Amino acid sequence: MSPDPREELADILAQAGEYLTSLKDDGVVQLEVERGTLSAHIPANQPQGDTVEKELAKIAKTVSGCRKCPLHATRTNTVPGQGNGRRPEVMFIGEAPGADEDEQGLAFVGRAGQLLTKMILAMGFSRDEVFIANIAKCRPPENRQPTPEEMETCIPYLKQQIAVIQPKTIVALGAVSLKGLLGLTGIATLRGHWHSYEGIDLMPTFHPAYLLRNPPAKKEVWEDLQLVLKRIGRKAPPVKKG
Ligand code: URA
Repeated sequence: MSPDPREELADILAQAGEYLTSLKDDGVVQLEVERGTLSAHIPANQPQGDTVEKELAKIAKTVSGCRKCPLHATRTNTVPGQGNGRRPEVMFIGEAPGADEDEQGLAFVGRAGQLLTKMILAMGFSRDEVFIANIAKCRPPENRQPTPEEMETCIPYLKQQIAVIQPKTIVALGAVSLKGLLGLTGIATLRGHWHSYEGIDLMPTFHPAYLLRNPPAKKEVWEDLQLVLKRIGRKAPPVKKG
C-alpha cells in the first residue's frame, strides 16, 4: 500500500519543527534560504548550546561567594538576577535588591517587583521571557542606594551577564541603573530617549519604586515601554477588562 501523503507531510513537518527547535536551542535567531541553501545566523558573542545557562550559572556562583564590598556582610542571599538568558527582547535592570529580594535571592519580587511584573505583562511578555537584574547584587542596608564604590565593584558582574545574554533591548529602571550603565545623570530628562550600551539599544525610564510613590508617572513609563515595543516590532496586547 502506498503511504498516505497527508501522513508523510505531517512527518516532514514534525521533523522540520524538531530541526528548527534544535537550531533555536543552539542560539540561531535568523534563517535565510537562497537558491536552496539554508544559512543560519547566530549573533556574534552569543554562546551556543547550553553554554548560556552554564555561563550565567558560573557568574551567579562567583557572585554568591563575592566579598569585595561591605554589602556581603549584611546580605542573606546574593541576587544575581533571573529570566531568559537567550537573547531576550528586553532585559530590565534595576538598582539593588530590597528585603524581599535579599530573603529569596530573586530580583524584583517585592512591591516594586509586583509593579514591574504588571509592566512586563502589559507589554505582552511573561517574566520568564525577559531577563531581570540589578546594578548591585547584594542588598544595601535600610534600602539605601548603593554607594559609587559599591556600584563600581559590582557592575562587572552585570556587564558579564549582558555580554552573555545579548538582549535586544535594555530598559534601565531609575537613576542608579542609568548612572551604573552609562555614567549619566538626569533620569527625568533622559527617559523616553534611546541610548546605547555596547551597541544594545537602551531605554531609561523611572524605577517602579518611584511609581509606587508617584503613580501619575506611570503614564510616562508606559510611553517609554511602548517605544521599546515599537523598536522590537511588537504591539502591546489589548487590555483585558473586568
Ligand atoms: N528594587 C530594585 O531596584 N531591584 C529589586 O530587585 C527590587 C527592588
